[in-house]
Amino acid sequence: MSPTDENTTVVIIGSGVAGLTLGNFLLRSGIDCVVLERQRREYVEQRQRAGVIDSRAAQMFREWGLEDRVVGGVPFEPVLNFRIDGETRPFRYVTDDLGGGRFCPQQMLVRNLMDVFVGDGGDLRFEAENVELEDITGPRPRVRYRDSAGVTRTIACDFIAGCDGDHGVSRASIPEEELTRHSHEYGYAWLTVLADAPAKHQSLMAIHDRGFAGQFARGPQASRFYLQCPLDTAVEEWTDDRIWEEIEARFGEPVAVKGRISSKTLVPLRSVVHAPMSHGRLYLLGDAAHIVPPMSAKGMNLALHDADVFAAAVLKQVKEQDTTLLEAYSATCLKHVWNYQAFAAWFTDLMHDAGDVSYRGEFRRRLARAEFQRLYDSETTNRLFGEFLTGLN
Ligand code: APR
Repeated sequence: MSPTDENTTVVIIGSGVAGLTLGNFLLRSGIDCVVLERQRREYVEQRQRAGVIDSRAAQMFREWGLEDRVVGGVPFEPVLNFRIDGETRPFRYVTDDLGGGRFCPQQMLVRNLMDVFVGDGGDLRFEAENVELEDITGPRPRVRYRDSAGVTRTIACDFIAGCDGDHGVSRASIPEEELTRHSHEYGYAWLTVLADAPAKHQSLMAIHDRGFAGQFARGPQASRFYLQCPLDTAVEEWTDDRIWEEIEARFGEPVAVKGRISSKTLVPLRSVVHAPMSHGRLYLLGDAAHIVPPMSAKGMNLALHDADVFAAAVLKQVKEQDTTLLEAYSATCLKHVWNYQAFAAWFTDLMHDAGDVSYRGEFRRRLARAEFQRLYDSETTNRLFGEFLTGLN
């Protein structure tokens, strides 16, 4: 065997939250794995993304003995702050949850997961280029890549975990006819803006006839703002002045500190599910398998759920030679994914339909307003909403 040919149990492609969480769970269970990441470490650590760790995910880290080491950020209160037509209407939800949910920027979780994985002796290789998957339906698939020194290496393994996001190589390695893509476009985008402007609340969401607006704290001095806008809007049309004007109009109150705006990007809202989530010995996790609209704050939590299910399934196979959980992996995850896609679609429609009628009309607006009011009037609805927010159903 050449020194560039290696063996392991699981090759994990991608070191985002899905890949690193899986890597840590396997490492703690004594199962060999190698994580291959295309980018440099600094890039992965600094990639800015929103993040909410729901109670289910916090509980999962607790059960794997990692909560104290990886879950950071501030605990979230069971309250959502809404501004409806310029009026403040806080919504407190009833929950049996014992807590644990956190506002934790994704890069904070990724950094913690990376420190723990590398610190505990995990094998994480950055700048892995030209990753190729071979023989994924055979008994011993291989992953070939070019390492940071330009040497081509091959790792044979029992399983490949495709944790490389929506544009990765893993899903693209599955023949098209073996996968079904279910998708839904919401018909609008979010202009997302990062600004040096302290937030009064952890989160603030506005329903207004000019469209949805959101503000989420990013540390004590900065906020990320979201403004619903048409899909064909050009980011260049959004000058800083126009952004502040629109934020103030939709929230119906002045912004105290209009600091520097450091980034503006456009995100079309969509839901996507690829099924099944496995092919041969390749298993898809996280964004590689599904995308939820950001309104739901469930993208990261779904990725974490996949890692939990897959790690437990590999463990069962390796320790007990029992393949039942692996065979059920796709069905188990998809059941959960569709439940949360349903929640995400409902909440996304609600928050946008209730505002600007130019997208879906007056009838939808009135339905959305009635549903919104029901959150306050019906304890049953309130409780169900709380179950979804905490991730406990
Ligand atoms: N080879 C190796 N690594 C790759 C490749 C490739 N061909 N393509 C992508 N990657 C890496 C990316 O650089 C990234 O570090 O895979 C990783 C994928 O990580 P994420 O995009 O964070 O995906 P995931 O771990 O599934 O996390 C899902 O991300 O987009 C958010 O809302 C989403 O919170 C959710 C989370």
